[in-house]
Amino acid sequence: MSRPLVVGNWKMNGLRADSAARVNALLDGLREKPAAGVDVAICPPFTQLALVGSQLEGAPVALGAQDCHKAERGAHTGDTSPEMLSDAGASYVILGHSERRRDHGEIDETVREKAVAAAKAGLTPIICIGETEDQRQSGETESVLGWQIKGSLPDGFTGVVAYEPVWAIGTGLAATSEDIEATVGFIRAELVRQFNESGKTLRILYGGSVDAGNAGSILAIPNVGGALVGGASLKPDAFLSIIHAAP
Ligand code: G3P
Repeated sequence: MSRPLVVGNWKMNGLRADSAARVNALLDGLREKPAAGVDVAICPPFTQLALVGSQLEGAPVALGAQDCHKAERGAHTGDTSPEMLSDAGASYVILGHSERRRDHGEIDETVREKAVAAAKAGLTPIICIGETEDQRQSGETESVLGWQIKGSLPDGFTGVVAYEPVWAIGTGLAATSEDIEATVGFIRAELVRQFNESGKTLRILYGGSVDAGNAGSILAIPNVGGALVGGASLKPDAFLSIIHAAP
């Protein structure tokens, strides 16, 4: 299995000064206590990619973005191409987050097209999937995830899958270890069904109310290869504890 990957998704939070201070605190913490066996990335808002990217030069933390367009260039006002992200120093891009599916009507096909474009530009896509509370209550979790995997992941996918149950995002109520183990086990089986041998090694992250207290047990669950962290990634101490909890 590959090294664990811990990704901070800062979402639409913070101004330049906040981000700069947060990165400094994170890098200080990692100098004090390195996380040698763990891959770490942070995904700031677009306007702070250049600033954070310059702070991360030579640091053991990669830069990621929170979305990209599927086109290489052209008449797409307000959008950002994967190549632009790469050029800004990013190596990861989060795609298909439930907040983008909700706020921007993104569908699996769009996510898949973006993933193809991102990979072409040298970025590693982190594709988010997850069921809503209603879907969970009506016993549809596996069919929803199955469709999202089939629809969002392109042929020959080599990126990262993030399982984020929508009901666990920002609620302080992470899924239980038993639920995560069962659902991530199902995701692994689907990945193997879709991608054969390579599906066995694709990284699967868990996201949804990961914090300093629950990270150790979540990151120890079989098939969980890391975490996609929202709220707690805005607090350097909490984010460092999560990084250091990785096995
Ligand atoms: O992408 C990370 C995210 O959606 C989880 O957010 O705040 O529950 O850690 P949070």
